[in-house]
Amino acid sequence: MTIDNTEGARAQIGVTGLAVMGSNIARNFARHGHTVALHNRSIAKTDALIEEHGSEGDFVRTETIEEFVAALQKPRRVLIMVKAGDPTDAVIEELASAMEPGDIIIDGGNALYTDTIRREASLRDRGLHFVGAGISGGEEGALNGPSIMPGGPKESYQALGPLLESIAAQVDGTPCCTHIGPDGSGHFVKMVHNGIEYADMQLIGEAYNLFRDALGYDADQVADVFTEWNAGDLESYLVEITAEVLRQKDAKTGKALVDVIVDAAEQKGTGRWTVKSALDLGVPVTGIAEAVFARALSGAREQRKAAVGLASGQLADKPADAAQFTEDIRQALYASKVVAYAQGFDQIAAGSAEYDWNLHPADLATIWRGGCIIRARFLNRIKDAYDENPKLPSLILAPYFRDAIETAIDSWRRVVSTATLLGIPVPAFASSLSYYDALRAERLPAALTQGQRDFFGAHTYERVDAEGKFHTLWSGDRSEVQA
Ligand code: 6PG
Repeated sequence: MTIDNTEGARAQIGVTGLAVMGSNIARNFARHGHTVALHNRSIAKTDALIEEHGSEGDFVRTETIEEFVAALQKPRRVLIMVKAGDPTDAVIEELASAMEPGDIIIDGGNALYTDTIRREASLRDRGLHFVGAGISGGEEGALNGPSIMPGGPKESYQALGPLLESIAAQVDGTPCCTHIGPDGSGHFVKMVHNGIEYADMQLIGEAYNLFRDALGYDADQVADVFTEWNAGDLESYLVEITAEVLRQKDAKTGKALVDVIVDAAEQKGTGRWTVKSALDLGVPVTGIAEAVFARALSGAREQRKAAVGLASGQLADKPADAAQFTEDIRQALYASKVVAYAQGFDQIAAGSAEYDWNLHPADLATIWRGGCIIRARFLNRIKDAYDENPKLPSLILAPYFRDAIETAIDSWRRVVSTATLLGIPVPAFASSLSYYDALRAERLPAALTQGQRDFFGAHTYERVDAEGKFHTLWSGDRSEVQA
């Protein structure tokens, strides 16, 4: 696409919606030498950004959408950073009316991918390119290098890709940004990223809970363990910040901050979307689902209060060998994490097939190595696994992860059984282990389920030794007929 340098239209990118994420991305573009047109519904935010950070690069202050659009080089590229849902639709409509065919609107918020599919189709009819881009990394990532997952028309990536890649995190010289696929695929992939983020956080939380309640560690002691783990295979942003959060002291009481925070986890909704979509696609994302439900349970504060004191039954003694149990937890965390990623990648494969997106798992692992919340050393291994075999039936079957789980399996079982005997909840550790056991089982109880379904509803079943569908005449002579 040609770049038209009409007098006055000098900005390479426009950012509208200048709350923290929008401001930080705008600054990131400017710091990389791009001229950035700024727009916000209330001009005060635009002015505050220019006053505080105007010296970081070349910003164009605009007040109206018309001025904003007129400040942009063609094809115009506008990044929207507003609240998902109706506010996004409103801004898109305003922009679309002021823009021309070939221009590009990028939604960088956490939009629901089905909304992105709808918006892309409707803007395509008007000759505009719509790019739903997942952006991960929080406030700090937005400023210093996020992981960016842009979907939308491939042609738009020619004009947009170099700009986005210039501000993304870089790992070994590779930007954490690539064209994901058509229409809603960028937001879909970001949604699953967030689902994995939920699972990862829940697993870390369960590990912390075991140190606290099974070994009696205080927050500083647990922080030391996480710091040590961060030097090994578990090295990741979430493990690193866990140690920092645990070490933080509360100025008011002098206690560990974590001990004065209410234990009810909130959620903006992307984890829930992941599970809803997985249900529709028929993909068992059990680790992610447990994480979403664990947050819901933690938030049921009244119910929990009423349930304190319920019988625990006879509880076992605390583990005698703290060093062994610590290593067991490390192994259980690693193995459960493999399961969470395996399930997330299964969902991505299912979404790709359902919507004909032709997604490449190795590319996703590549751009998640830096910038995003789930960035981890481990993603290099996932990238290698999919590079070697893009059609891997499950990440768990990649030789590296298969071996890692083989090493971890005894520890993993000890952690789940010890936690159960101590009455300590480990929903994500336990369900990940059950998932693994179910996946590798030669025979599942689903045969019985099929028999029951046939009994009460004549739903039929398949036989292990013949083709076709069969039905037993349960209320007749119980002979079998071919359906
Ligand atoms: C990211 C994060 C981010 C998300 C927050 C809040 O990738 O930068 O996933 O997009 O909005 O982490 O998520 P919850 O409120 O749902 O925990």
